Amino acid sequence: MSALASVPRPGSSGALGVPAGTPLLELRTVESGYHKQLRVLKGVSLKLMPGTCVAVLGSNGAGKSTMLKTVMGLIDDEPRKGTVRVMGRDMTRADTERISQAGIAYVVEDRGMFPDLTVGESLRLGAYHRNDRAEVRADLERIFGYFPRLAERQKQASGTLSGGEQQMLAIARALMSRPKLLMLDEPSLGLAPLLVEEIFGVIREINRSGMGILLVEQNANQALAIADYGYVLEGGRFVLEGSAEELRSNENVQEFYLGVRADDGEPRLHVRRRRRRWN
Ligand SMILES: Nc1ncnc2c1ncn2[C@@H]1O[C@H](COP(=O)(O)OP(=O)(O)OP(=O)(O)O)[C@@H](O)[C@H]1O
Ligand SMILES: [Mg+2]
Repeated sequence: MSALASVPRPGSSGALGVPAGTPLLELRTVESGYHKQLRVLKGVSLKLMPGTCVAVLGSNGAGKSTMLKTVMGLIDDEPRKGTVRVMGRDMTRADTERISQAGIAYVVEDRGMFPDLTVGESLRLGAYHRNDRAEVRADLERIFGYFPRLAERQKQASGTLSGGEQQMLAIARALMSRPKLLMLDEPSLGLAPLLVEEIFGVIREINRSGMGILLVEQNANQALAIADYGYVLEGGRFVLEGSAEELRSNENVQEFYLGVRADDGEPRLHVRRRRRRWN
């Protein structure tokens, strides 16, 4: 099923109403953090072209969520340096509402459920600023095509869904705003492998329908399987970037993010971790 077929496909015609070749999202030397003193992002630059899926890999505390929150205008007075452009327009320190209206949807790491709302109510909330009711209904049907389990649970309170179902609902709710770019913060977190497969399968399908995806993940295997391009974030800096294929074949990425052991014949417990050198 070709869900969300109505999302304009990217192309040279400037399908999104911006000149061809304009990134959906562009960060230039962004520095950001908390409470003025703490600097988490130390100058990150990233480009995401329409219709592509970009993965940002990084371990705990690298600054992945901070990057997404910064883009979304969720941290007061941040970024302190650098610029955020959405479809060519400067959105540095813009209101979250304006950024969302520009076509960015954000699925937060803890899924941001409203536990007392039912599945159906939560999905309608995702479309609250739309007044094209017939199309909202049509999108709902398409989204239930992605996540049939949600269709069966429309009257169930969100707070009583399983972890996997909550992740599905969080993604589905974000899709209800018809974003041009969907930003996902660790959608695989805490989910069983089969469910991770299922959710990544849907993310791939959403991407193939033409929507841009910014995927923040520790699960490098899954992320690089669906991404076109990726960045590795360590200590608030991108230490490596390249096509998903280049990253998959990079020795450091293999050892530190893909769990592939350096082939030195030593029993694993005795292998001293190689120091990471990115260049
Ligand atoms: N609200 C906050 N106030 C102060 N410091 C924060 C806040 N949120 C995050 N930090 C700090 O910023 C740094 C980066 O955190 P961030 O949540 O961006 O990492 P992450 O890459 O998303 O990690 P994880 O994989 O654990 O989610 C950490 O040192 C964290 O303690
Ligand atoms: Mg995080």
